[in-house]
Parts: sequence; C-alpha cells; structure tokens
Amino acid sequence: MKEVNEALSLILQRKSVRNFRPGAITKTDLETILRAAMSAPSARNTQPWEFVAVTDRHTLDALAGGLPYAKMLYQAGAAVVVCAIVEKANERMLEYAILDTCAATQNILLAVEALGLGAVWTALYPRSERMEHARMVLHIPDRIIPLCAIPIGHPTGEDQPKEKYKADNIHWERW
Ligand SMILES: Cc1cc2nc3c(=O)[nH]c(=O)nc-3n(C[C@H](O)[C@H](O)[C@H](O)COP(=O)(O)O)c2cc1C
Repeated sequence: MKEVNEALSLILQRKSVRNFRPGAITKTDLETILRAAMSAPSARNTQPWEFVAVTDRHTLDALAGGLPYAKMLYQAGAAVVVCAIVEKANERMLEYAILDTCAATQNILLAVEALGLGAVWTALYPRSERMEHARMVLHIPDRIIPLCAIPIGHPTGEDQPKEKYKADNIHWERW
C-alpha cells in the first residue's frame, strides 16, 4: 500500500518545470528515464517510438533557437525528443503512433519527477515548422515524427503543481 501511495503522490506532484539551475544530467538518469518511457502501453504492444537524447550544449542551444515555446532548453542540462514511427504503429496508423508516444511522454515526465529533476512537454507535433526544425538540428529522417522536445534540468523550486481536480468533470454512471 505504501508503494501505491508513493506512486500516486508522484503523479500529483508532477508539474511542468521551466526554471532550471545549472547542472548536468547523467547518462544513467537519462537511461532510467528512457526505460520508463519504453514501459508505456502501446496499441498491440507495437512500441512505435524512438528517442533522441541530447546533452551537448551546442545542440540544446540550436534546438532552442528555432523553438519559440521551448526556450527553457537554453537552461536545461539535457533534452529528450520523443519520436513517433508510423511504420511500426498498429495498422501503420498515424493516430496510433501519436497516442502511443504520448503515453511514453507522460512516463518520461513522471520518471523525471521521481528522480528529483524537472521537465516540460514542449510541442513539436503537430506544428510542421517546429518538427522541421527538430529534424534539421538532430538529423531526424523525414518519415519520423518528432512529437515533442522535453527539456530536463535541475529545478529551482519555482514551479509547483497546480490543483486541477474538478468534480464536475466526472459523470458517474452516465453522461
Ligand atoms: C501537447 C502539449 C503541448 C505542450 N506544449 C508546450 C510548449 O510548447 N511549451 C511549454 O512551455 N509548455 C507546453 N506544454 C505544457 C503545458 O503548458 C502544461 O502541461 C500545462 O500548462 C499544465 O501545467 P502542468 O504541466 O504544470 O500541470 C504542453 C503540454 C502538452 C500536453
């Protein structure tokens, strides 16, 4: 029961972190984060995802340069770009590739929180100019869909979880 409570409190503690202290992110932590990503559910267990893990300062800055809503990359110690692989997805459908990679993305955000780090989902898909920028900087092939860029860093503590529970959003038994 204790473990369940810890998992739940982790979910409730997760927040977008956009303010980072200087500091590197270890390869061990990135591997842990990506193991969590790959443990996500996917339609017919197709796992239609691959990831670009970036720690190089120059590359992080180059990514930030073309992504107006991901300027936290300038302060982040690392980033993960989550990529959707349509040809691996259930029935080779774009929709399944996107759904499955969104599940992997949420697992990344939770793993980051569990490690005491901070991260934020910044959208690439469905904005074609942002996807193109990520493809260009990271040499991602055209057939691969870069879903999001996730800056990861050491949180300053400024960013806090928001209270979002709304009883009105729940329909008990029928709409
Ligand atoms: C699909 C998606 C796209 C997002 N894109 C951005 C983005 O480009 N830049 C950003 O700062 N935050 C982005 N966010 C983070 C949201 O703004 C954030 O999740 C929301 O405000 C709720 O705050 P919380 O994550 O702290 O609970 C995105 C989130 C999602 C799910």
